[in-house]
Amino acid sequence: QRHLLGIEPLRPDEITTLLDLSDQYADRNRKRSPSTDVLAGMTQINMFFENSTRTQASFELAGKRLGADVMNMAMQASSVKKGETLIDTALTLNAMRPDLLVVRHPHAGAVDLLSQKVNCAVLNAGDGKHEHPTQALLDALTIRREKGRLHRLSIAICGDIAHSRVARSNILLLGKMENRVRLIGPPTLMPSGIEEFGVEVFDDMREGLKDVDVVMMLRLQKERMDGGFIPSEREYYHRYGLDSEKLGHAKEDAIVMHPGPMNRGVEIDGTLADDINRSVIQEQVEMGVAVRMATMDLLAQNLRERRTQHPEGVL
Ligand code: CP
Repeated sequence: QRHLLGIEPLRPDEITTLLDLSDQYADRNRKRSPSTDVLAGMTQINMFFENSTRTQASFELAGKRLGADVMNMAMQASSVKKGETLIDTALTLNAMRPDLLVVRHPHAGAVDLLSQKVNCAVLNAGDGKHEHPTQALLDALTIRREKGRLHRLSIAICGDIAHSRVARSNILLLGKMENRVRLIGPPTLMPSGIEEFGVEVFDDMREGLKDVDVVMMLRLQKERMDGGFIPSEREYYHRYGLDSEKLGHAKEDAIVMHPGPMNRGVEIDGTLADDINRSVIQEQVEMGVAVRMATMDLLAQNLRERRTQHPEGVL
């Protein structure tokens, strides 16, 4: 692949290759091994048009651990505020000859569009409610390390499915790897026709969680609700918030996941989120650095090969 724009175009063997390399980086990071130089001489620019803690910090750390020169564009202080378009901003940065562009944008499809205008590798750090591919990859790595496999598992994704790029990328990835995916949430937050993706849909937590191996909770994405139906937080927590009683319907060794940022007491009980016997939320964050190292390593290898084949610069 030239870019990482989504999970949709990835084959199962490509996902496995990415996760195998991520596993190696995760072990290296855990041993605090010295940085490598696979991105030495390369420039990585992070452009976040939407807020981020985990994704931006881990892409920055990943680039630095691989030896890249990393620049974080402060989009709030950029000429975007003077009306410059996304494409003009991208073309301007492209003229400075970066090698990797990491982009988060509030509009679905914006990162794909941008990737068609530049001659470096583009990584989607989340575009609207479309895709968040590195999140799904880090979730998959966490599951594989915890459960010892990434196939034939029963996985529940719970909450605001309709507005979640994390849900979409995970549905695609977990389906490609032959897992059973259950979606649980209020009908108003469930996209119509989602069953076409081979998932089962529930609006009752206790029924949907029955005997699952993995419980993945999602935040209510109020910023994408466009003034539409926003449930009351108290009522939502009562019906869809994960607590130990509802988790009791899952398998005894089921793990609890959340991509963050989480709202304690809205979609998840705070004590359960901190329970290291069930919750792998901090491991997900840790795996985020490893996955971003692996994806940038593989895209940089591809970029070097293409540049050897096209030294005149046409990619
Ligand atoms: N999971 C996730 O994308 O978190 P951030 O918005 O903090 O990057």
